[in-house]
Amino acid sequence: MTPTTQATSAAGLGLSHLLSNSNVESAIGTLIDELRTAQQSLTGAQPASGEHVETMQNWLDRVASTKGKPALYPYVGSGLGNGPLVQLEDGSVKWDMINGIGVHMFGHSDPAMVETAVRAAMTDVVMQGNLQFNADSILFSELLLEQAGSDSRIEHCFLSNSGAVANESALKICMQKRGGVAPRIIAFADCFMGRTTTMAQIGDSAAGRVGIPLNTQVDYMPFYDPEHGVRSIEYAVYHLEQQIARYPGQHACFVMELVQGEGGFNIAPREFFVPLMEVCRQNNIPVWADEVQTFGRTEQMFYYQQLGLGDYIDIVTIGKMSQVCACLYTADMNPKPGLLSGTFVGSSVGLNVGRRALQRLRDGGYYGSDGKIAALQKAFRQHAKALVDKHPDWFGPVPHYSGTHRQASGLYGGVGGMMRLTPFSGEKGRILKTLHTMFERGVIAFYCGHGPFHIRFLPPVGVMQPQQFGEVFEIFEASLAAAAAE
Ligand SMILES: Cc1ncc(COP(=O)(O)O)c(C=O)c1O
Repeated sequence: MTPTTQATSAAGLGLSHLLSNSNVESAIGTLIDELRTAQQSLTGAQPASGEHVETMQNWLDRVASTKGKPALYPYVGSGLGNGPLVQLEDGSVKWDMINGIGVHMFGHSDPAMVETAVRAAMTDVVMQGNLQFNADSILFSELLLEQAGSDSRIEHCFLSNSGAVANESALKICMQKRGGVAPRIIAFADCFMGRTTTMAQIGDSAAGRVGIPLNTQVDYMPFYDPEHGVRSIEYAVYHLEQQIARYPGQHACFVMELVQGEGGFNIAPREFFVPLMEVCRQNNIPVWADEVQTFGRTEQMFYYQQLGLGDYIDIVTIGKMSQVCACLYTADMNPKPGLLSGTFVGSSVGLNVGRRALQRLRDGGYYGSDGKIAALQKAFRQHAKALVDKHPDWFGPVPHYSGTHRQASGLYGGVGGMMRLTPFSGEKGRILKTLHTMFERGVIAFYCGHGPFHIRFLPPVGVMQPQQFGEVFEIFEASLAAAAAE
């Protein structure tokens, strides 16, 4: 893809002078210095301070009132953070190991990101649209495509505001590509795809589609079973071929999370995906990687790159840490005019902060088997192993998944900045108890899986240091002890 402009700055003609003006530079410098000073007060987990507890309760009552139901965690952020630490409105400071489910890749109030956001906020209105946009959205798209296209056939992208809408775009593209006569979708059991009416139907969670009249036809495939290795691959291929034989020419796509996110951080080797993708190719079924959760977070910017699957990918969706979501596709999948649009492409701040995050990840030594992200996964595993070895009574065998013959692969693991640990044989009640105790004591994490359940970390890989897992695991261990004692 050849850029049509050499411009690399977010501000075009009108504002480039303003943003490099020495008064503006010095004002932004002052803001950032003040921010850094404020951040220095956050050095580790701290309990709530008495005077602010009531303020927090007031906010929580208002959340419950506006949403009609209480928040899962008593969390209202103050807007201040430092590395992986975040301050809440009650004055407490916590290690944020979930980051809005993978959104804050560089933690909260990171000075470089705030500086980018302040500059972006000076350019034009807040939201940019599909009809009228600034250079920001072109630069963001170019950077994405440069990364995606380095080892795949991806050439174009369409930006949107949520992962679910990026997925809607992808599904429409696939359906149009198949001539409007292929209504069925192939997806893995336990997948998650977002909350639109259609994505909630494809996503394999009964609770997510309660009350929705079903009008989307999904054929579910078994995901990789580490216990059965090669046999599980043969079984999956057999299953896929059967579905295709059962409904010839009727599949719009095979959508795959290459690491299952909400489904439990389940991973599979390249050897699992290749034969499935080959079968798709032989049958003209587009291969769509849903990387909304994996994007940016594994040992390459896209996880299909880490697995060396670029050649098979027809379409890929991303979101979360990029701040602006996107559907990326090959020239062959490029839809006809009119299929994709929408008022917003993203906010000026989102486009610039997202691009800055991608640049920092690309240039900052994060990727590769010896990069910073791999080092974080290694440190996580070391701490997890030590915990499991020290407390075998908390880590019993993980039972089979209900409904399939799949078994959880080990007591801890994941890939890159996606980490999981499975105490109490994956029993939901005690896992939730552990998570709430962790929260009270200063670590914010979350769960994943549909049973067995796992404790899930999506740490801010851009700013987390491996040694910081030390304090996180101390709190984790104490919280597990509290849940075990019940
Ligand atoms: C794999 C995957 N796809 C799609 C989505 C939906 O993204 P959003 O919540 O931004 O609509 C998610 C969100 O968790 C996800 O994990």
